[in-house]
Amino acid sequence: MMEDLAMHILEILMNSIKAGAKLITLKIRDSFNDDVIAFSIEDDGKGMDEEMVKKAADPFTTSRTTRRIGMGLAFMKGLAETCGGSFAIDSTVGKGTLVQASVQKLNIDTPDLGNLGEMMMESIQSDENIDYVLEYETDYGQFVFDTRVIKEELAGVSLLEPEILIWIKEYINQGIEQAKEDTRQ
Ligand SMILES: Nc1ncnc2c1ncn2[C@@H]1O[C@H](COP(=O)(O)OP(=O)(O)OP(=O)(O)O)[C@@H](O)[C@H]1O
Ligand SMILES: [Mg+2]
Repeated sequence: MMEDLAMHILEILMNSIKAGAKLITLKIRDSFNDDVIAFSIEDDGKGMDEEMVKKAADPFTTSRTTRRIGMGLAFMKGLAETCGGSFAIDSTVGKGTLVQASVQKLNIDTPDLGNLGEMMMESIQSDENIDYVLEYETDYGQFVFDTRVIKEELAGVSLLEPEILIWIKEYINQGIEQAKEDTRQ
């Protein structure tokens, strides 16, 4: 089921959405030189107290009252450890949450990054009023996507229009491919 990194990141984005975030900033550094894929997800949602932060990545912790036990953060932490990386949560009640994780790019257990355009599209689809900044950086270049800029350009047209969603997905995936290209002569 949870195969690529994008699927894991989507789980973390969903947590931010559930926490009432209005702006979510996702930064990804994808570097061969440093053998790392590092990402951070920062939100301005309701945050967690110290005790909750301590147990948030425990597989038996959830503030859910129904169905399965919480696994989003626990999975991410486990994956980071398995893949020679790191994991940290920093949160303040009433201010927001920062989740940071990394994996070694060349570790045999590290899954593919996956389809980030699709991931962003799915997250945006769950609530178009939430804004996102995506920053993707490689050894060669950088791509930045900001829904606030897109919304301004769309002048009132909904992000949820199917053509717009598909355009967003493709725009992001193209931007990412471009950032991966070595443009030095
Ligand atoms: N960004 C966040 N802001 C505030 N609280 C959070 C955030 N992320 C996680 N939490 C808290 O940590 C708990 C554990 O999160 P986790 O994603 O591991 O499980 P879950 O969201 O409860 O369940 P599932 O992911 O299976 O739906 C959440 O229930 C929530 O209380
Ligand atoms: Mg979750």
